[in-house]
Amino acid sequence: MVELRNWAGPIRIALTLLAFRHSVYSFGTSHNFPCSLTRCLSAITASETVGHPAHSYSTSISSLCTMPSVAHVKARCPLYPSSEIRRSPVPDDKLKWETRWADYKPVSYTAPSVLKNPSWADPDIGSFSPKFNSLDGSVDRRSLVGTYKVDQGKPLNPCGRTGLTGRGLLGRWGPNHAADPIVTRWKRDSAGQRVLNTHSKLPVLQFISIKRKDCGEWAIPGGMVDPGEVVTLTLQREFSEEALNSLKTSPKEKERLQERINLLFRSPGLQVYQGYVDDPRNTDNSWMETVAVNFHDETGDSVSTLPLRAGDDAGQVRWVDVDSAEPLYASHSQFLKTAAQERRAHW
Ligand code: BGC
Repeated sequence: MVELRNWAGPIRIALTLLAFRHSVYSFGTSHNFPCSLTRCLSAITASETVGHPAHSYSTSISSLCTMPSVAHVKARCPLYPSSEIRRSPVPDDKLKWETRWADYKPVSYTAPSVLKNPSWADPDIGSFSPKFNSLDGSVDRRSLVGTYKVDQGKPLNPCGRTGLTGRGLLGRWGPNHAADPIVTRWKRDSAGQRVLNTHSKLPVLQFISIKRKDCGEWAIPGGMVDPGEVVTLTLQREFSEEALNSLKTSPKEKERLQERINLLFRSPGLQVYQGYVDDPRNTDNSWMETVAVNFHDETGDSVSTLPLRAGDDAGQVRWVDVDSAEPLYASHSQFLKTAAQERRAHW
């Protein structure tokens, strides 16, 4: 195991995930948040343990604070995903809502699949009254980055303008919560020795990656938090659904593998990120947020033996080397970078 105790500085606080979201902002951080994670406890260099009734995650606050200060690039991609819709261009200096821009006339788009009122989507504003910035029944409309603004009944993206209003492909007005389980092992040679990268001379991590059906990009097997679901459960459920179900193994073998997965997810995870995600689906009124947690098989005798086909695209799920050169979906590279750095692995 990575030396978890090294992350335990004088400030090591046990909190529930829920409490953590509020605690982050109690350390003198601004509620008028820019899209910079430097707002997160920038004065604190030690680590925290984020506790949960069932699990506790170690969180490297220092790494959270080194995220880029403008994480709003994919959310301004010209062509909106799975559509012919073009966003209105938003220059960097017009990103912030505080910057007046009288001529801002973004295109409005909500995907037909969302307008059909599936169970995972909200109705249109006007026909219902969501309680923004709060737990609205079982739907969590609180943001992990603080209190967001609501303008004329519609929530405003905390990272600013995207050139598109409405919900696009996203179901919820405001934050849409996801969870990303990063399952890692050390890359080993045929003799079982850790493989070192020839340039950095650091050991190479591998993580379980899936090919997303919506865009064909390789990604962490994450997914949406169901209403009322605790994040710990989402992490394990999504991983099992996406990584295990695609394996061509017998039900008995799957049961055996599921037991290993259960054990791994009960081990202390390392939370590498929580907050806003620069996702191409984001709009002015709907955006993605996630909690990314790294579960690591240090000895190589747990999920490392999952029968995935390393490097085989056809499998749709595979072990991928953790390396800065590997292109990944949304902000997933950033999460892996943090995991690699915290585990002193090659990046
Ligand atoms: C994906 C997550 C991702 C999140 C934000 C979700 O749909 O399943 O892996 O982090 O979107 O991009």
